[in-house]
Amino acid sequence: MILTENPANPILRLTDLAAVAEIARSRDIILVVDSTMATPVATRPILLGADLVVHSLTKYMNGHGDALGGSVSGSKNLIEEIRKQGGVYLGAAMSATNAWLIMRGIDTLFPRVNAMSRTALEVANFLSQHPKVTKVVYPGLESHPQHELAKRQMDVFGGMITFQTDEPENMCSQLAKRLQVVHYAVSLGHQRSIVCMLSTDELNNSTWGLQGEKLEEYKKWAGEGLFRLSIGLESSADIISDLDQALRG
Ligand SMILES: Cc1ncc(COP(=O)(O)O)c(C=O)c1O
Repeated sequence: MILTENPANPILRLTDLAAVAEIARSRDIILVVDSTMATPVATRPILLGADLVVHSLTKYMNGHGDALGGSVSGSKNLIEEIRKQGGVYLGAAMSATNAWLIMRGIDTLFPRVNAMSRTALEVANFLSQHPKVTKVVYPGLESHPQHELAKRQMDVFGGMITFQTDEPENMCSQLAKRLQVVHYAVSLGHQRSIVCMLSTDELNNSTWGLQGEKLEEYKKWAGEGLFRLSIGLESSADIISDLDQALRG
């Protein structure tokens, strides 16, 4: 099985899904795509050749930060296998309340992600010119190293932006104290804008354990640490003025 997360959280590096699907098909390997960050509004991996698509429903699908869930989509044969194994032995069954909240959230997925993508492009352009910001990564910016792939593979560029600043630890406390519209918290894909700092060292020492070449590749995208900004449904003017005052300190 090949498992890819596209775009990758938090660095927003893309995988060329059609190209990887061709490799997988030629070797009879199942291709699984975690498409949480893209959402089906931006990218539909099965049309590009993926066998299974995984979503954290907790994020954009539910969209309001008040329910946990996950989904796997794909052909009936594969899903039946997963139901038999995962459903029975891992207890992967959602509560009725979570299912109800997520179903309600999904009804507004398309207008939410379209609006968030429009706002995100404005905010990414604003951050790119901000004196306190040293780097911005957003698939919709021409400066994204895979912008051409993004244009091929994404109908909209999504609501996730990452950016870097000098002295990220200090900036982290400054943002947490000063932000008023944007919420300083973990998670993403909610109606409210959320930002949090992810330090490369911390990620490396905890769940990720990146080493050697993988760590160097990660650092190329994330430096010593980055801010992951999940754009919500507030007006772009409110988000921009809040980020501006908080970054300037
Ligand atoms: C791309 C991606 N997949 C899966 C997950 C896991 O989601 P959950 O919190 O619903 O278990 C996350 C959480 O951050 C994520 O970003």
